[in-house]
Amino acid sequence: SNTSSLLRWRSSSVCPAEPIHVLGVGNVGKLVAHSLARVSPAPPVALLLHRPELLSEWEKAGRCIDVVTDGSSDKQRSFTTEMISNDKSDANATSSIIKNLIVTTKTYATSAAIRPLKHRLNHESTILFLQNGMGRTIEEVTSELFPNPSTRPHYLAGITSHGAHKTGPFSIVHAGHGTTTISAVLLHLDTHMANHENSESIFSIPESSRYLVDQLLSAPTLAAMAVTPAELLYVQLEKLIVNAMVNSLTVVFNCLNGQLFNRPSIATLMQLLLSEAAAVVRALILCSSKGDDEVAILESRFSQPILEQLVRTVAAKTGENISSMLQDVRASRETEVDYINGYIVARGMELGVDCVHNRTLVQMVKDKRVISEFQIPDFFPR
Ligand code: PAF
Repeated sequence: SNTSSLLRWRSSSVCPAEPIHVLGVGNVGKLVAHSLARVSPAPPVALLLHRPELLSEWEKAGRCIDVVTDGSSDKQRSFTTEMISNDKSDANATSSIIKNLIVTTKTYATSAAIRPLKHRLNHESTILFLQNGMGRTIEEVTSELFPNPSTRPHYLAGITSHGAHKTGPFSIVHAGHGTTTISAVLLHLDTHMANHENSESIFSIPESSRYLVDQLLSAPTLAAMAVTPAELLYVQLEKLIVNAMVNSLTVVFNCLNGQLFNRPSIATLMQLLLSEAAAVVRALILCSSKGDDEVAILESRFSQPILEQLVRTVAAKTGENISSMLQDVRASRETEVDYINGYIVARGMELGVDCVHNRTLVQMVKDKRVISEFQIPDFFPR
C-alpha cells in the first residue's frame, strides 16, 4: 500500500537540515511556513520577500507568523528572511543554491516571481508548486527559465484544501482544516498537463526531492500525503471544479460561499456551468488514460451528480468564507479566473466542448460585474 511504501521510504531517507525557502507569503505560504516550523526537529525555513514593504511589515509583526486555530493563537519565530531583487547588479544579492523551494504565489505571477532566483536553482534543486487553479504554469516556468534539461530543477506539484484568511500582514486564521496532496511532476512539454506514465509509484519522487517531501509529511497542520501523479490530477480537477463554481459565482453575486446555493436560481445556473465543466474534465481524464481504471474513476468521482454534491458540500462547509477570488476582487487584485474557468474554456475548445456559459462567467469576473439572481437570464440565456 502507499502507507507501507511511505514508511519504508521515510525510514531509509537521510534528512540533513537543509533550508526550505518559501516564495509567496500569502495565506497558503504562511500556513506552510508556520507548519514546517512546528516539525520536530524543525528545518530552517527562509521566507523570500519580494517587496521592501514586506520587510517592514515583518519587523512590525515582531518577526513571527501567527496562526489562529479554533480561537487559539500560535506564533512561530524561527524564520529567516531574504529580500529578493530583480536587480542583477545588486551586490548584496545572495547567490547560494536553493535546494528546496515552495512556490505559493498566485498562478499568473509564477514565472516573474521565480525569475530573480533563477541563478540559485539548478538540477540539485526541487521546486514544489503549491497553487490554486490549473494551466501551463510549470511549462511556462520551464520554457522561460529552465529550457536546458540538464540544469533544470526537479518539480513537485501539490494542492491544498486548507482554508485560511488573513487578519494581518503575517497573521492568518486557519478556518478550514483540509489536506495537502503532493506528487512528482513528470513533465511533458507538448501536453497541457503532467504525463502520467509510471504513475503507479510514489517512488517517482526523485531522491533529491525526498527531504522536502519528508518535511512536509511531518508538518503537523498540513495533513500532507504523497500520491501518484494520476491521483494528484484527480484531486486538482476536483478542486478546479469547486473553485470554478464557488469562487467565480461568489464574485458575480458578491456573497459568502454559504449564501450561493440556497437560492434555487443560482443552484440552477451552477448546474448549467457544471455540465460544461464536467464534460471537459471527464474528457481530460479520458485523454490522460492509460488503462481501464479511468472509466471507474469517471463513475465514482467525476459524474455530474457527484461533482455537484462535492461543490455543495464544500460551499456549505466553508459557508462563512469569503472565497479567495472575492477577496482578490475586493482588494483590487488580479484574479485567477483565467486559470480556473478560463482553463475549462480553453481545454473545452481543444476538446470540442463549447463552454459558452463559463466563457461569459470569465468575462463577468474580469469586468467585476455584480448581478442579482433576477438578472441571471439576461446574462446566461438558455
Ligand atoms: O479559493 C477558495 O476560497 C477555496 O478554495 C474555497 C474552497 C472555495 C473556499 O473558500
